[in-house]
Amino acid sequence: MNPRARLDPAPIPFIDLAAQRRRLGRAIDDAIARVLGHCQFILGPEVRTLEAELAAFCGARHAVSCASGTDALVMVLMAKGVGPGDAVVCPSFTFTATAEVIVLVGATPVFADVEANSFNLDPASVPAACAMALTLRSLRVHGEGRDKYESVRIGLNGRLDTMQAAVLIEKLKIFPEEIVARQRVAQRYSRGLADMARVPEVAHGSSSVWAQYTIRVAPGQRDRLAAALKAQGIPTGIYYPIPLHRQAPYRHFPVAETGADVSDRLADEVISLPMHAYLDEATQDRIIEAVRQALRG
Ligand SMILES: Cc1ncc(COP(=O)(O)O)c(C=O)c1O
Repeated sequence: MNPRARLDPAPIPFIDLAAQRRRLGRAIDDAIARVLGHCQFILGPEVRTLEAELAAFCGARHAVSCASGTDALVMVLMAKGVGPGDAVVCPSFTFTATAEVIVLVGATPVFADVEANSFNLDPASVPAACAMALTLRSLRVHGEGRDKYESVRIGLNGRLDTMQAAVLIEKLKIFPEEIVARQRVAQRYSRGLADMARVPEVAHGSSSVWAQYTIRVAPGQRDRLAAALKAQGIPTGIYYPIPLHRQAPYRHFPVAETGADVSDRLADEVISLPMHAYLDEATQDRIIEAVRQALRG
């Protein structure tokens, strides 16, 4: 390593969208230009193409796209008629959108705990206590009937715009390869760090696309680790620093009888490392070595 690199290490992106952009290159420019050409910005042909390709990808009969992950969550609750008087069990160790949509439809979130090794909802913590596709298509256009001027239910404006669909069609083409690449990155992290930190586990018979790669360290070590990595140009993230049952808007909602101790503990222990499909081995080795050094120190 040259001495300058030691003093001034190149910053590493947490997620390298630019690498994916370089790979897709003109395909994205052409896809956007096609939409600019035909001007069907609302529910244009790319939206239908993307939905057909997503359905095939998942082996599902229908895929209904919408404008955001939050819209996807709320529309499913609306389509199922979930509302006042209903309780919906959700993990406490997650992003606020998960519980927010339950409250928005007038139902009550019941916070369950997660498993410490996989971060997934712990079934033991769940209290004892397609027509669907058509409904979703209606919900995303203000609850439309034959057209949007016939209203058959309360809905929202949750359409995925054509421009984004055009870009997503191109990204979907390389998605299977990216999943494999992300899984390779996760395996290399786990091999390189398992003796120093608690590495994540994937339940038998399941697979992960590794939205985040998250290790667990002793609470006292986490700030020091994050600072040491930052000094070397290595970003980290905390997913999630405060479990939802501790957050102001949710404090008055029930928690599973068995409590949410694992969620509380994880909020103090977790730290996520750079994770994307284009993380090359040399850069990843730099990250692994920096984590090992900081945890030894
Ligand atoms: C677990 C989870 N659910 C839902 C969402 C909401 O997705 P969107 O920002 O597309 O509405 C997020 C966003 O980060 C998330 O992390």
